[in-house]
Parts: sequence; C-alpha cells; structure tokens
Amino acid sequence: MIRLNKYMADCGVDSRRNCDKIIAENRVRVNRKPVCELGFMINELNDTVTVDGKKIKPKTKNVYIMLHKPKGYVTTVKDEKDRKTVMELVDVKTRIYPVGRLDYDTEGLLLLTNDGSLTYKLTHPKHEVVKKYLAKIEGEISESELEVLRNGVVIDGQKTAPAKVKVSGKDDKLTKVEVMIHEGKNRQVKKMFEAVGKQVVFLKRTEIGEIKLGGLTRGTWRYLNEKELEYLNKI
Ligand code: URA
Repeated sequence: MIRLNKYMADCGVDSRRNCDKIIAENRVRVNRKPVCELGFMINELNDTVTVDGKKIKPKTKNVYIMLHKPKGYVTTVKDEKDRKTVMELVDVKTRIYPVGRLDYDTEGLLLLTNDGSLTYKLTHPKHEVVKKYLAKIEGEISESELEVLRNGVVIDGQKTAPAKVKVSGKDDKLTKVEVMIHEGKNRQVKKMFEAVGKQVVFLKRTEIGEIKLGGLTRGTWRYLNEKELEYLNKI
C-alpha cells in the first residue's frame, strides 16, 4: 500500500504537495471512483489511477553504471556462441544493456544502462563524444605514420575523421599509443593501425567524453556519480 499522492509523484505527475491539490480538485479517480480524500492509500500493484481521465503509471528509474570490462567477454546480453558476456559481471536488479560495444579482446570503460536515448547520444557521430583508448602496438611507429592516423585513413571504404594520436611510452618491444576518436566504426582503432601496417596487441578504452575509468578494478563496476550524470544530461 502507498499514499495516493506519493504514487502520483512517482508517476511524474507533480510534487507530492501539488498532487494533494490535484486530488482536492477532484481530478483523480482510483478504479474509476473519484477520490478527493487526502491521505488516501492505494494498492500500487492492483489499483488503476487516472488523472483528468488519463491512466498514470510509475516511471522506471534510469540506471547508469560503468564497468571495467576485462578481455574475454562479449558486450552483448546473450552470446550465440555461449561465450561469457559482460552481463555476468554486473548485478543490478533493473534490466540494463551495454552502450555501444568493445571487442571480445578489448578491455576498459563500458557503460551500461536502461536509458534508450543514451546509446544514441554517445555513439552518434554528430554529438562528437570523444572516446580515448590506450593501444599497444608491436614495434615502433614513426611520426609520419602517426600523422597519417591523425588526418584520417580509409577503412572499409570510408575515411575516418581526424583523430588525436600520440605515443605515450614504450613497453619492451611494444609502443603505447593514445588515441582519441569520436566515431565508433567496427574495430576502428585496430583497423586504423592496420591501415599503416601496425598490429594492435592490447587495447583499452579509458574515457568516454568526461567519464573516466580511473582506478576502477578490472572486472568490477560502479554507479555513475552526480557529476557524470550531469555530463550525460548535457549532451
Ligand atoms: N576499436 C577497436 O578496434 N576495438 C574496440 O573494441 C573499440 C575500438
């Protein structure tokens, strides 16, 4: 059982106080019977509430989380080859799904949500949300090859948009390269390097716009904080 004004507020009608006014104005019916009594209780599972003749229903709360995806997981809810999915790493009650995708062998920042508009906001090139990756490639890469990547290369018959690309260090026989792109073509980073004859042997996404993976342990997840939600709202 729940107070009628709270139920109305949960349905997004108005604040509880204003819902009391709406009730007093005789605009609310519960199971077709007019109710103007303040403090009226309803059974939210069985009762039907209308305001001005329109049925109301509770809003589903949006859930936003980030996961540090390890390699060896697919970014789908179910895999037809029965491989492990990222869903096995998160335990929230709401049905959520990954925003965009990371390859099976790519690790790093992955967002999951039940907010249908978020995938569009973060993956449509017109919003130009920059994704930052750390790639490790075999051998060395020259300044002129980096410049080719910055200006855009043709992959799958289409030229990639200008990218920010810089060497950030060395690791044995590997070179670490930081790549910032706002497009999300299939296997884009790996294909960009392939276009200049380099092979990516490790790939990790570290940032999506202002949302950073930070020190989140591999294989764990957390809810996005207020600041990150505000940023998503602004896009
Ligand atoms: N680019 C890739 O090549 N793979 C990913 O998983 C993400 C970006």
